[in-house]
Amino acid sequence: MARLVIIPAMLDPHTHLRDLDWSHKATFASETAAALAGGYWAVFDMPNTPPTTTDPVALARKQAALRAAAVCDWGIYYGAAQSGNMESYDDVAGQVCGLKIYNNATTGNLLIAEQGQRAHHYAAWPTGRVIAVHAEDETVLDILQLVRQYRKRTHFVHISTAAELDYLRAAKEEGLPVTIGVCPHHLYLTEADLPALGSFGLMKPGLKAPADRDALWAGLQSGLVDVVESDHAPHTLAEKQSSQPPYGVPGLETTLPLLLTAVQAGRLTLERVIELVALNPRRIWGIEAPPDTYALVDLEADYVLERARLHTACGWTPFEGLRVRGRVRETWIRGRRVFADDQVLALPGFGQDLFRDSVC
Ligand code: DOR
Ligand code: ZN
Repeated sequence: MARLVIIPAMLDPHTHLRDLDWSHKATFASETAAALAGGYWAVFDMPNTPPTTTDPVALARKQAALRAAAVCDWGIYYGAAQSGNMESYDDVAGQVCGLKIYNNATTGNLLIAEQGQRAHHYAAWPTGRVIAVHAEDETVLDILQLVRQYRKRTHFVHISTAAELDYLRAAKEEGLPVTIGVCPHHLYLTEADLPALGSFGLMKPGLKAPADRDALWAGLQSGLVDVVESDHAPHTLAEKQSSQPPYGVPGLETTLPLLLTAVQAGRLTLERVIELVALNPRRIWGIEAPPDTYALVDLEADYVLERARLHTACGWTPFEGLRVRGRVRETWIRGRRVFADDQVLALPGFGQDLFRDSVC
């Protein structure tokens, strides 16, 4: 028996949609379609895909391409560049969902490793917009020092260890303006899965110990964690199977089913899932959902995740073969049915820029 429920206006604030100079991996059309298939109303795109979103020209190019192709609503991150692009911050901040600072190595060339450099970026970014940070291990403490100094709202993406959660719990208790995102791959996979997964289990931050995974679940349950974000990062099958596989896994179409499976297992409440994938991201980024915008999901649908059913251009998932419970039946945006029966019904360009000329 189907059990249909509505999940209101889901927002994934952490995706790498590719396109532009990496359109061989995926495109704005394919990955925003994957977002609709995953139940999402909107996604925010990270700046590390070439050409990096670190100057106003690259930003304008990405805006134009998304405007033409997107089938879900969207926002764009501006990236902090090693060369020091702070003089452009005041001009671009009103057009983007936030600034992304990479403080540890990952895909692309946006690493800011030096604390003094990081401080310049923190000082320059306008206070009205979120700073999203990639920070692992003790780097979390370095960034907290900057949050303490500059008091700028900071979202820690893809937190993956018990120790990092401890640092951030203390930061919240101290009253620092920080929020925490975790990813489904760190909730459902550990380093023990690496032999079976091979390069499909490679991402940054990497898979961790079972004790870390358990700490993330406890953080979801207690309310410490604010957001579940996919870190959707498609790479082609050939790239992943090469001798030097890139880091990253897709996640837009598996995040909600995995969380609903946890609801069925009694590990999370449906209300908590709605907070993690919809209410909290909207609140943190200060955006309101349009009316009549939701995913219609069947909580009872029981099936196995398989790559043949995915809409992402990469055509694989680290969760291949996993049995889940909960399927997106339809996605609605602004009163329009944009996804149903596994088909995308919106036309390219239907998606709207959530930060077009917004005030910050
Ligand atoms: O695994 C990852 N892949 N982590 C990141 O931070 C970037 C991403 C990508 O762009 O491939
Ligand atoms: Zn990422």
